[in-house]
Amino acid sequence: MSMSRATTLGSKWVKTKVLLLNKELSKFVPETRIYSQENLLAMLNKHKMVYVKPINGSFGQGVIRVEKNEHYRFQSGKVVRTYRTFLGLFSALNKAKLNRSYLVQQGIHLLTHQKRIFDTRIMVQKSPNKIWEATGYIGRVAHPAKIVTNFHNSGKPLPLELLFDPYLKNQKKDAYIKSLRHLGYRIAMQYQKVYPKFKEIGVDIGIDKNLKPWVLEVNTAPDPFIFNQLKDKKMFFKVLRYSRANGRFLPVKRK
Ligand SMILES: Nc1ncnc2c1ncn2[C@@H]1O[C@H](COP(=O)(O)OP(=O)(O)OP(=O)(O)O)[C@@H](O)[C@H]1O
Ligand SMILES: [Mg+2]
Repeated sequence: MSMSRATTLGSKWVKTKVLLLNKELSKFVPETRIYSQENLLAMLNKHKMVYVKPINGSFGQGVIRVEKNEHYRFQSGKVVRTYRTFLGLFSALNKAKLNRSYLVQQGIHLLTHQKRIFDTRIMVQKSPNKIWEATGYIGRVAHPAKIVTNFHNSGKPLPLELLFDPYLKNQKKDAYIKSLRHLGYRIAMQYQKVYPKFKEIGVDIGIDKNLKPWVLEVNTAPDPFIFNQLKDKKMFFKVLRYSRANGRFLPVKRK
C-alpha cells in the first residue's frame, strides 16, 4: 500500500462514522444516511432541505441540494429544477446524479457574505515536534449562483475575521474563531484514536443562523495552498512548513 493510501480515507460515510463514535463530537454532525428513495423521502420530510453528495466526491462535483416546500426542487451546479411530486423529483435526480454511491445529509442553512453562502476550513496538523495544532483557518464563499463553497468550484477564500464581522464583534469574534479551531483539534484527536498514522486533517465546518457549527466533512489529505489565497502569508507559511515536515509535497523520487 502506498503512503497516500495508508494516510487518506476517501469514503465520506466511513469518515462520518469516525465522528459518530464520539458522543460529544456526534452533536456537530448533520444527520447522514446512505442515499436511497426511502432515506431521501424521510430526510426531506424531516429536514426540508438536504444535501445529496457522492460518497467518494471531491471539489464539490456531483453535490446536489434538494428541498421540499410547496414543491420539490433541486439544484446541481447552477441548474435549478422543480417538481410537483416526490416521484418526479426522484426520477429526475437519478438522471442528474453521477453514476456513483451517494449520501443524503441534513442541509445546513449557512451564514452568508453578500448573499453568498460560506463555510469554514480548519487545518489541524502535527507540528515538527509532533504536537497537534490548529494551524490554519479560512472562510470559503460560494459563487453567487452555486450551493457549494469549494475553491475548485468557483468559491472564493476570504479571512474568517472579515466574514464573521456582521455576526460577531471584537472579543466575541475572536473567542468564536478560537472555539472553531478547538473543535478542529478535538476532531483531530478522535481521528488520531482510530487512525494513528494521520498527521493532518482539514475540517469543513458550516455555521448555521444560530451560530451553531456543523461538521460537513473531514478531509484527510487537506490542501495547504488554499491559505496562499490570503493576503497575509503568515498562516500559509506555517501550514506549508508543517505539511513538508509531515512528508507532503516533497520532490518526487525517480526509480
Ligand atoms: N450538509 C450540508 N449542508 C450545507 N452545505 C453543505 C452540506 N454538505 C456540503 N455542503 C456544501 O457543499 C460543499 C461540498 O461538499 P463536501 O465537502 O461534502 O464534498 P466535496 O468538497 O466534493 O468533497 P472533498 O472536500 O472531499 O473534495 C461543502 O464545502 C459545502 O459548501
Ligand atoms: Mg469538501
